[in-house]
Amino acid sequence: MYHDFNYETALASSLRAQWQLDDVLGANQELDFSRNFMPESLARTAAIESLNPFEQRILNQISAHQYLTIFGIVEEFILPFLVDHARPALRGDDYRIRALLNFATEEAKHIHLFKRFHDAFVRGFPVPCWTIGPSEAIGVKVLSHDPLAVGLVILMIEWMTQQHYLGSIRDDGDLDPLFKSLMKHHWMEEAQHAKLDTLIVDALAEGRSEFEIDQAIDDVFEIATFLDEGFKMQAGLNLDALEQAIGRTVDRDSILPQQHQAARWTYLGSGMVHERFEATLKAMSPRAARRIAEAAPIFA
Ligand SMILES: [Fe+2]
Ligand SMILES: [Fe+2]
Repeated sequence: MYHDFNYETALASSLRAQWQLDDVLGANQELDFSRNFMPESLARTAAIESLNPFEQRILNQISAHQYLTIFGIVEEFILPFLVDHARPALRGDDYRIRALLNFATEEAKHIHLFKRFHDAFVRGFPVPCWTIGPSEAIGVKVLSHDPLAVGLVILMIEWMTQQHYLGSIRDDGDLDPLFKSLMKHHWMEEAQHAKLDTLIVDALAEGRSEFEIDQAIDDVFEIATFLDEGFKMQAGLNLDALEQAIGRTVDRDSILPQQHQAARWTYLGSGMVHERFEATLKAMSPRAARRIAEAAPIFA
């Protein structure tokens, strides 16, 4: 076995790590708009030379708004996926069903937390920021694929949140402490989700032929391409908000592809290259691992 994860230990660790919404952000608490919200390793806004430092910070905050809405979107397909997966397990192993239901409860809490941060953002930011959606339609589209492919995409997302927190503590003393705390608390619970999702993916892959796994990887690429089109659209919407907030037009031809690439890394690439995600792929099929590794540089 390539890991030692099990439902009993993951459940026990989850229950120990649990927090409440108010531990992270009170309903009326305000964000500090004089600071960046996103680590530079994800937002890549300080690298844009055609923007002055104030404008870079505004775009960094818009990038954080994107983070809140993209995670809102992905959590909304993670939740029904988990509920569907838990339903047939109701009468099985007690630790398994409790771990799966607890996983679902935590994701519902994360949706709530991201909404609370979103409300605080809207209260403090000078212009409206538009987002792709509706999230329900995006969720339906993602969930129309092979469950193994959806499970793999979710596993990628769970591992990427580990990477995001590590990135945010590593490179930024200047971040808004509440956003930093959001990353930290999400990281704390996602650490167990990643283990549980590994077990879910193992179960979904069991007994599949090489051909069937190959088809699931095709579906992973379809989902990634679909999401990536959304990220490109979102990069355009982000620049609309930036121009409105700073009262001038910007060099969209250079900034849009650069910000699209930042989103590719944040929401796909940073999970694709995670060693634990690679380990799951390799155990399932070395060919699947190779196909994902070959595509990863597009999302770097
Ligand atoms: Fe989550
Ligand atoms: Fe999660």
